[in-house]
Amino acid sequence: MKFVLASQNQHKLEEMNLILSAHGVEVVLQSELGLHVEVEETGGTFAENAMLKAKAVMAASGLPAIADDSGVCVDALQGAPGVYSARYGGPELDDVGRYRLLLNVMQGQTNRAAHFTSAIACVFPNGDTIEAEGECPGSIAFAPMGDGGFGYDPVFFLPQLKKTYAQLTPEEKAAVSHRGKALAVFEERLKEYLRK
Ligand code: IMP
Repeated sequence: MKFVLASQNQHKLEEMNLILSAHGVEVVLQSELGLHVEVEETGGTFAENAMLKAKAVMAASGLPAIADDSGVCVDALQGAPGVYSARYGGPELDDVGRYRLLLNVMQGQTNRAAHFTSAIACVFPNGDTIEAEGECPGSIAFAPMGDGGFGYDPVFFLPQLKKTYAQLTPEEKAAVSHRGKALAVFEERLKEYLRK
């Protein structure tokens, strides 16, 4: 079964295919189908934004669409940047600029607790939907470490592994990450849906 990913993010695509390909699911970027749907993330939650993106791409492609909306929520910042993770600091910042800003904002802060959340939404052409969510607890590092992954990976520290997301192999990250957990739940729900 083929799903169109409601994102241009190659890293998300790779993380999804790493997990879902074992179950006969192939996820492709919307650009591979010549689509460039831009969805305004107006939802107040990750789940709402994921559903907005999946619905828009299903409507444009006529194919089952899958979306991930995710972000890092920092306790000392009352959950920020949260759903605004991709827009943190404004449009002129790139991934490195955003995590540097987060490190600056956290300077002198002793409570470093944070978690990543991923909401997955999938919409089929007949209107059926599947949703799933996953969370990974961790903390904000004092300095970036590692060069794998993307986004805030170099500053998201996992105390139990003593490594940041960026220091993990793709397989190690998939085993513990917010997206890995959300996709594991999604996979189960998809299997159940396909059995019906
Ligand atoms: P979205 O594409 O609107 O869901 O934005 C997600 C934001 O959170 C972007 O800034 C990403 O870089 C960041 N993000 C999401 N998942 C991860 C991850 O697994 N590692 C690091 N950053 C992530």
